[in-house]
Amino acid sequence: MNRHLLSAKKMAQFVASGYLSLDGMVPKDLCIACLKEMADDHGYLDVGTSFEETWPTDTALGQAFRLPKVQELIHSLIDPNPLYDHHSPHLTPAGQLRGPDTYQDSVIDFREHYFDIQLSLFAADTPDEIGGTFLIPGTHFRNVRTSEITVYQHMRDKVWATCPAGTIYVWNTRIWHGARSNHTDRDHYMYKLRINPITPQVRHFDTSDLNDPAIGNILNTNHGWESNEHRYELMQRVKLWCFVSSQPDYDLGEHFLRRIESNPQLAAA
Ligand SMILES: [Fe+2]
Repeated sequence: MNRHLLSAKKMAQFVASGYLSLDGMVPKDLCIACLKEMADDHGYLDVGTSFEETWPTDTALGQAFRLPKVQELIHSLIDPNPLYDHHSPHLTPAGQLRGPDTYQDSVIDFREHYFDIQLSLFAADTPDEIGGTFLIPGTHFRNVRTSEITVYQHMRDKVWATCPAGTIYVWNTRIWHGARSNHTDRDHYMYKLRINPITPQVRHFDTSDLNDPAIGNILNTNHGWESNEHRYELMQRVKLWCFVSSQPDYDLGEHFLRRIESNPQLAAA
């Protein structure tokens, strides 16, 4: 039971970079059945309802997102009993070329600490030339209005899904991302499922390595685009880490958060 929960180090990686790439999540035969269903999708289910009650049980996709590895991934990041938000098979047809299209899904999501996740299932082998989804690690603390960032191309440390069938990318909904050109003669699907938390996202992951000093280095990751803003980004990550790990006094480096909290005017009142 709970053999597949994320470690604290993996959770810290998610806090710092806003995504994880996990291969071997869905077996090949189930992937083939999922691909057939993606091409015959009937739209959103009942938005905002219990995932367990809403997500179908008698389909391949119903099975795929109920595999123990996937369930415990959701449990670690969101909740053991999350809400269904929406899903969508994203098709990039054979030969379709894409121009600049960096954007953020989450237009009005300014909740502090809380975050939704999106699971991107790549059910077919996804070589570079088929155009797997790209994302910019670490951008999930930069709230923008959907496509106002379309002009941002070739950002440092941009990554994209190049992976075997059965890989899931799980990402904070606020990560900047987009679709890429499909240079092959095969249609490409990325199947997206978004889910929401209903309880505080605190210590849902495996905390047995919570005191590993490597966590500080992970949170401090420099993706490349941050440049002069890296300290600012680190502060946002530390704030979220304090929350999800239930360590309100956690801090790093030059103790930026303590400086903010130190307010002589309040102390003198
Ligand atoms: Fe999107």
